[in-house]
Amino acid sequence: MRATFALALLLAVAWADHHHHHAHHRDSHQHDGDMECHHLSPPNADFAFALYKNINSKTAAGKNIFFSPLGVSTALSMLSTGARGETHTQMFSTLGYSSMNQSAVNDAYSHLFHMLGHSQESQVLNVGNSLALRQNFAPLDSFIADIEKHYSAHIFKVDFEKAQEAAAEINNYISEKTQGKIKDMVKDLDTSMAMVLINYVYFRGQWEKPFDGNHTSKGEFFVDENTKVEVDMMKRTGRYDFYQDMDNHTSVLLLPYKGNTSMMIVLPDDGKMKEVEDVICKDHIRHWHDSLSRNSVDVEMPKFAISGDAALDESLKEMGMTNAFGDTADFGGISDEVKLKVSKASHQAVLSVDETGTEAAAATTIEVMPMSMPERMILNKPFLVFILEHSTRSILFMGKISNPTEA
Ligand SMILES: *[C@@H]1O[C@H](CO)[C@@H](O)[C@H](O)[C@H]1NC(C)=O
Ligand SMILES: *[C@@H]1O[C@H](CO)[C@@H](O)[C@H](O)[C@H]1NC(C)=O
Ligand SMILES: *[C@@H]1O[C@H](CO)[C@@H](O)[C@H](O)[C@H]1NC(C)=O
Ligand SMILES: *[C@@H]1O[C@H](CO)[C@@H](O)[C@H](O)[C@H]1NC(C)=O
Repeated sequence: MRATFALALLLAVAWADHHHHHAHHRDSHQHDGDMECHHLSPPNADFAFALYKNINSKTAAGKNIFFSPLGVSTALSMLSTGARGETHTQMFSTLGYSSMNQSAVNDAYSHLFHMLGHSQESQVLNVGNSLALRQNFAPLDSFIADIEKHYSAHIFKVDFEKAQEAAAEINNYISEKTQGKIKDMVKDLDTSMAMVLINYVYFRGQWEKPFDGNHTSKGEFFVDENTKVEVDMMKRTGRYDFYQDMDNHTSVLLLPYKGNTSMMIVLPDDGKMKEVEDVICKDHIRHWHDSLSRNSVDVEMPKFAISGDAALDESLKEMGMTNAFGDTADFGGISDEVKLKVSKASHQAVLSVDETGTEAAAATTIEVMPMSMPERMILNKPFLVFILEHSTRSILFMGKISNPTEA
């Protein structure tokens, strides 16, 4: 009997926002044509919310959630180029690509990486794929060609027989790609590993309107009715895109980064978090985005750094991707000699939010404020965050901040 080799998906995601980069103007609507990568936007958003709901159902109350929907979709799409038969059908259906074929998906990702490459020039966003390959294992040329061409994958060889060294090598690679934000992604590696697919998303943004560190002070954050924690609360009054959605019981605020990226904050009314997260879908994001209007807003937001570590195996299986993990897995497009299955899919994400570039604050934050009562957006209870990349219409990151002090 032939041995079945394992492959693993690692998704390393770092989001840090206290570094400097060249400032550019946000021109999010300038290039809004019907672009190839936009075909991925609706299915990827549906997948993001389905995954959120699944992860949320496994997450204890009071715990944070943070992941990169774009990272997960990308890694799975890269893997799907080598999947065949029912394994492929399930992957495409889970990803929401059933109405597309693999070559259309590949082309859309080529375009997406090309678009994101533009923002790489200003060092905002780094999304990449890699394949750590077993030394004596040769995948089909067509698989290598596809992932190099469409997913810009970087391929390197690793000696999985020396499990510890292999893990260290992969960890070093991920650490380098995430600027040291994610250091110990791989803890143990099976010696039967044929390959490890790695996706990383690294984003460092600078608020278009930084907070002034002098206004940051201790404040309370209410994790739930019985739990409150002390946080450093940043404060800023400014002109922001804001929307109070009475019908859906939430306030929505858009905090733009320099570049093509914004943070959308969704703050459900007291006691309404569950109601909101149970129904939230891409239509809400669109509705909110379209309903935002420029207002004076008093913003209070905790400063925090969290890290999320998730095994995605169970979630992906529950979402319909069962074959890939089992003995019926068909990765005939990766190898016709060796049987392969996915042994694990893990995802790690870190997020830090601070005032960012406060030294520039005085110069860049002078705004003409109309004489009206400002709206208030006080983030002192659990809220949802979305990091949206406008040029590709991607959800780079999403999550729920239930407790900003929980590392
Ligand atoms: C895949 O879909 C594209 C666009 O939908 C179509 O042009 C192409 O012919 C299809 N390719 C295959 C192999 O079916
Ligand atoms: C924003 O996206 C456009 C493409 O839509 C790109 O040309 C531009 O360089 C991007 N700007 C930044 C700062 O990344
Ligand atoms: C913050 O306070 C320090 C010390 O009082 C002052 O030098 C600095 O200019 C202030 N920063 C801003 C952005 O106002
Ligand atoms: C929000 O509330 C309105 C009014 O109840 C409803 O029509 C809409 O479907 C809800 N969801 C979205 C996507 O805005």
